[in-house]
Amino acid sequence: MDYQKLRPLLFMFPAETAHSLAIKALKSGFVKPRASTDDFSALKTQLWHLNFPTPVGLAAGFDKNADVIPALLGLGFGFVECGTVTPKQQIGNPRPRIFRCPEQRAVINRMGFPGKGVQAFKDNFAKFLAQKPRPQGVVGINIGMNKDQTNPADDYRRLIAQIGAMADYITINISSPNTPGLRDLQKRDAFLDITSAVLEARTKYCSTDHPPPVLVKLAPDLSEVQQAELAQAALDSGIDGLILTNTTLARPADLPEKFAAEKGGLSGAPLKEKSTEIIHNFYALTKGQIPIIGVGGIENAADAYDKIKAGASMVQLYSALVYHGPYLAHDINEGLLKLLQKDGYTHISEAVGANHKGEIPHEIRA
Ligand SMILES: Cc1cc2nc3c(=O)[nH]c(=O)nc-3n(C[C@H](O)[C@H](O)[C@H](O)COP(=O)(O)O)c2cc1C
Repeated sequence: MDYQKLRPLLFMFPAETAHSLAIKALKSGFVKPRASTDDFSALKTQLWHLNFPTPVGLAAGFDKNADVIPALLGLGFGFVECGTVTPKQQIGNPRPRIFRCPEQRAVINRMGFPGKGVQAFKDNFAKFLAQKPRPQGVVGINIGMNKDQTNPADDYRRLIAQIGAMADYITINISSPNTPGLRDLQKRDAFLDITSAVLEARTKYCSTDHPPPVLVKLAPDLSEVQQAELAQAALDSGIDGLILTNTTLARPADLPEKFAAEKGGLSGAPLKEKSTEIIHNFYALTKGQIPIIGVGGIENAADAYDKIKAGASMVQLYSALVYHGPYLAHDINEGLLKLLQKDGYTHISEAVGANHKGEIPHEIRA
């Protein structure tokens, strides 16, 4: 499939319709898996007790209902993060609520967590887990609260109770800008409360041998003071990792006016530098002690590599799929091998945090 030929056709549809078509194409087998003869062993990443075939993953929001996990893993992603799933079904904000900006390779969305709710998600996920053999790759579940929830911990607990044990890892989403009050959980006390509720629920409902690591996904819109406070809270909380970052509320000056005026979170190329900066800062603030998954504007291997050198152990992407097509992860894997070779590294882990050389000893960085 030549995506660049298909793209103009796809772009004739509203962005959300194009996304539904993409899900249908993946489900039906129209998008073929990307068979590879390449040796990606230099990219294999072991984090926590999990083995990631490559450190390039699909970010949350694409497969909200866990509909097409095997097809996604077949495209070259080493891991896929499903969700955000909420306890109850909800319709989200009125359409249109996703906007493309091809000139800047950007997206704005104000979806507001539309989804079928946890029961439908669980049924789909169970079907994936029942596949024998299970397709290779790690699958995380990103959890969030319903719009009408006034006590967030109740929703996160309920989600862990219902689906926590199925997840390879769990992401607590407290950074989507489209659910009122959600980003308030990024304040130190609220952060510690919510993470402690989730970690307690994990102990209660998940395997104690290999409990799923719990990660927290943060926004890029954090002042330096907030970053320092949250880095310390992350260390104090006992969580296993951070995902940096979600979409931004900022609107860089060079965005077309009409696009910039849309409400919601901005992602894609204009988010690239900001999210890399946040990764760099958190890696330094935590002295590399908490694994980071870097996400925001990754379009090619060089972008992924920049985030890894800034301190990300792995990366994710979403928006660039819209502009570069379904085989992007595979192309990034290939590109990463070349970049490692150029820098004289034999394994991707050697590049993690390389930009902090001299500040943080390699024994900690590795
Ligand atoms: C249409 C759309 C929907 C998204 N939905 C979610 C979501 O449900 N949960 C979440 O944590 N992030 C969501 N995101 C954010 C992405 O996971 C990612 O953090 C962000 O887009 C930055 O990466 P990118 O520039 O590669 O897209 C969404 C992004 C887009 C574009």
